[in-house]
Amino acid sequence: MRIIVEKDYHAMSKKAALMVASQITLKPDSNLGLATGGTPLAMYDKLIEMYREDEVDFSEIQSFNLDEYCGLEADHPNSYHYYMNDNFFNDINIKRKNIHIPNGGAEDFEKECRDYEESIKNARGIDLQILGIGSNGHIGFNEPAENLNVATEVVDLTEETIEANSRYFDSKDEVPKKAISMGMATILKADRIILLASGKEKAEAIKRTVSGKISTQVPASLLQTHPQITILLDQEAASLINKDELSADCHFEICK
Ligand code: PGA
Repeated sequence: MRIIVEKDYHAMSKKAALMVASQITLKPDSNLGLATGGTPLAMYDKLIEMYREDEVDFSEIQSFNLDEYCGLEADHPNSYHYYMNDNFFNDINIKRKNIHIPNGGAEDFEKECRDYEESIKNARGIDLQILGIGSNGHIGFNEPAENLNVATEVVDLTEETIEANSRYFDSKDEVPKKAISMGMATILKADRIILLASGKEKAEAIKRTVSGKISTQVPASLLQTHPQITILLDQEAASLINKDELSADCHFEICK
């Protein structure tokens, strides 16, 4: 595990964008696993800027999003389809046919989950997966629990997540209670993973993610088993990390 601490959100986002761009430079037809939420917004802005400057070309990439709310159609302003179009896809040259996001308006969610998992497999897996993290340690919508899902499944959102995400809705009651989420093995099968976290409200979850112990109560802690994982943080998100608790092969780097 490699932990990189950048000065602030802006520097963290810029480094994340450079890592995504270098992945695409190395392999123009990369399969990218993408995340929504507040955290990756500045990374997407930077990638759009790099696209406009001719520094990165998305024409051959395929994208696979982590999750989508059940019950929200693609054109719903709170759907992750809408978010991705609005914050990223409308401003780059990705081909529409190469965009994959679970369908929150599907009639048969079980089938949708199976088909989604199959589409990742058919594309030969994800080369680079971008993740955010919930303040409860979730990744995608894999919420803390005794058992975690292996593959893409319908999940119940926790109260904490509903509360956290209600900031995007008119009221908490409007937040869907269920979502389709890639499973833990779907995520861990990616060749490379970058987890982004910014702000002090993520500090405790990050401390538990990198602590050298694994628990399904902190789904992100399973990332410690991945051979190519980078945890990219700002100083606030890194503030509770105890270096003595990190596993011996963990690389810890503070950028000026
Ligand atoms: P955030 O969400 O980036 O809006 O904090 C991250 C997450 O819940 O996974």
